[in-house]
Amino acid sequence: MIEELLNDPNTGKYAVIGTLLFFVAVEIFAGHFKNTTRTKDDWAMEILGFLLLSFTSFVSLIGIVFLGEKLFPGIYNSLASTSLWIAVPIYMFADDLAQYWYHRSAHEYDFLWKHHRPHHAAEEMGIMVSFRNSFVYYTFIPNIWIAAIFTFLGLIPATIIGLIIKQLVVFSSHSTFKWDEYAYKFKTLSPVMWVIEHIFVTPAFHYAHHGKSKADLISDPNGNFGNAFTIWDQLFGTATFTRKFPTELGLQTDPKDGWAPHMFYPFISSKKEGSEISKGFKREKSTTLEAIEVELEAGTHLWCQCGYSRNAPFCDGSHHGTKHKPMAFATVKKRKVKICNCKMTKTGPFCDNTHLTIK
Ligand code: FES
Repeated sequence: MIEELLNDPNTGKYAVIGTLLFFVAVEIFAGHFKNTTRTKDDWAMEILGFLLLSFTSFVSLIGIVFLGEKLFPGIYNSLASTSLWIAVPIYMFADDLAQYWYHRSAHEYDFLWKHHRPHHAAEEMGIMVSFRNSFVYYTFIPNIWIAAIFTFLGLIPATIIGLIIKQLVVFSSHSTFKWDEYAYKFKTLSPVMWVIEHIFVTPAFHYAHHGKSKADLISDPNGNFGNAFTIWDQLFGTATFTRKFPTELGLQTDPKDGWAPHMFYPFISSKKEGSEISKGFKREKSTTLEAIEVELEAGTHLWCQCGYSRNAPFCDGSHHGTKHKPMAFATVKKRKVKICNCKMTKTGPFCDNTHLTIK
């Protein structure tokens, strides 16, 4: 019976839907949907995103199996006898490494950022947030193609098991049920939690990725890219573990685009002025040769390093879609300072007069 289920490609679909319904039930039980501040646009994006992902997954599976059988009949089902102990880890690591780089690219390259942006426009978490990506994002996402290829090669049980484990982690890291927040309260659990968080993505790790800005010293919207595992972030230097949850989530500067441009850009553009997904939007440089003198209050500030901020010399989130990140710095008391805005200083964020050497 179990063997039969694990060899049926439909099991993966039902298992993912079952896991989703389980977390929806937990969130309903926790009163999340009663207290939600979600708008109609938020609901539309989340439900539509779920349907788009289901559609693109279905098309990729049918397409790969159909074309594969015609073009490479010799390798169809060729790995069916592989042990699950080998196939499950291979599937999970391949899937997650591909997702890490796809997700990271969606933050570092403008084209993909615009399609991942709906995900970060969410101002509250919840499992449905995991589906907020545009149609283009889901068309190119490597994971659905990897799952289809593994299925074609006959590794259906491994794909199903891997998919269930991955979805458990992904739904839990987006869920309003922050299980790790309870666990962190118990000192005796600290070593266990250390091991868990250094392998799997926890809610605290992923919430930090959704935080509005680094200025709260918890969030890192330009890090913590992992989907199921945190190992890639640790390996490639993008991991931040604080065991805390940011209080402000979403885009640093949000023009509040509607669901249609969010999900179907560039076929539908935003009418909001200055929106990254409006027609003809161009990122403009805001650097100046001269430093900017400002009076800073005591606290943490973010210095723009990309040179695109519309609130120069401070970061306003315009660096998304580039490889740049802001620099966080603290001042202990109110003081006047000269902040570099040519971005060439070696003593960032403060001006070191490098601009005077430019002819
Ligand atoms: S706007 Fe954030 S680094 Fe420039």
